[in-house]
Amino acid sequence: MFCVPRLRAFSGIQPTSNSLHLGNYLGALRQWVRLQDAYDCVYSVVDLHALTVAPDPAALRERVRATAAQFLAAGVDPDKSVLFVQSQVPEHTQLTWLLNCVTGFGEASRMTQFKDKSAKVGDRGVTVGLFDYPVLMAADILVYDAHVVPVGEDQRQHVELSRDLAIRLNKRFGEGTAQVPEAVIVKAAAKIYDLQDPTAKMSKTGQAAGIIELLDDPKTITKRIKSAVTDSGSQITWDPDAKPGVANLLAIYSALTDRAVSQIVSDYQGKLYGHLKSDLAEIVVETLRPFRERTAELLSDPGLLDGILEQGRERARAIASGVYGRIAGRFGLLATR
Ligand code: TRP
Repeated sequence: MFCVPRLRAFSGIQPTSNSLHLGNYLGALRQWVRLQDAYDCVYSVVDLHALTVAPDPAALRERVRATAAQFLAAGVDPDKSVLFVQSQVPEHTQLTWLLNCVTGFGEASRMTQFKDKSAKVGDRGVTVGLFDYPVLMAADILVYDAHVVPVGEDQRQHVELSRDLAIRLNKRFGEGTAQVPEAVIVKAAAKIYDLQDPTAKMSKTGQAAGIIELLDDPKTITKRIKSAVTDSGSQITWDPDAKPGVANLLAIYSALTDRAVSQIVSDYQGKLYGHLKSDLAEIVVETLRPFRERTAELLSDPGLLDGILEQGRERARAIASGVYGRIAGRFGLLATR
């Protein structure tokens, strides 16, 4: 049998709260876990990206650990994959500088997420870091020679920028300078919307009642689902345009049970929204129960978690220092050692 080298996948989640939410789980984490069997995966708690929102230092420290614990609880296996904290591998920021020098100002100005975020905070709150966020993200990806980048639809443009930068480096400095990455977009069925505003993506910036945090207790989860906005009428049908609230509940139901939406809809013929909600609440609670317990266990054993992150840091560095050295050399920089 031939041994074909596996392609590498890279992805990251920002440690911006103590608990990840259901959108992170269904839109990213669950796919990360599955990808481990087919790819060499590198998963990162991207704490440098989180600095763009000026977090309280003590809160950040705690969130980095909590986020890593949740990756593990979801099934990221540190023996199969590299799990590490971004800031512990200095090549990310080193490569960011090199990429800054080949990124157009206009090109970076066109990033829609930057435009949205900076519109929200207003001119005085916008930092150079926020502007540079997509370039740091490109460095994350390129410094591992990643072939694929599993992300949600909202990150497509950022991965596109990484591609453009890789192609540019190869043109300027010769083929083989950078691996050109490709986005793997999580399919629409797993896109989860805010429970209170089912036209907006479930995200940490929404109001609390609209999101389900993975570490929420069963009572809170049940309450959030039961008070989710539904639509007028009482028929349970799949109609994302006319009934986005019900469609969102069905999408969550389907994603958690791996059953087709059409099958769920037919099971609920003649039943009311309330039935769907109370069943779904139970499904979510039971799915998250072992996850919550495992996370608590990991957080109560700091030695174990630190050991895993230390091993991840070493393995990440071994890859990143080689790739950084290669790219820096192509730029004409002298070797650092
Ligand atoms: N910007 C990504 C998000 O908010 C997080 C991220 C940072 C990332 N670096 C990355 C995702 C590299 C994929 C690859 O979701």
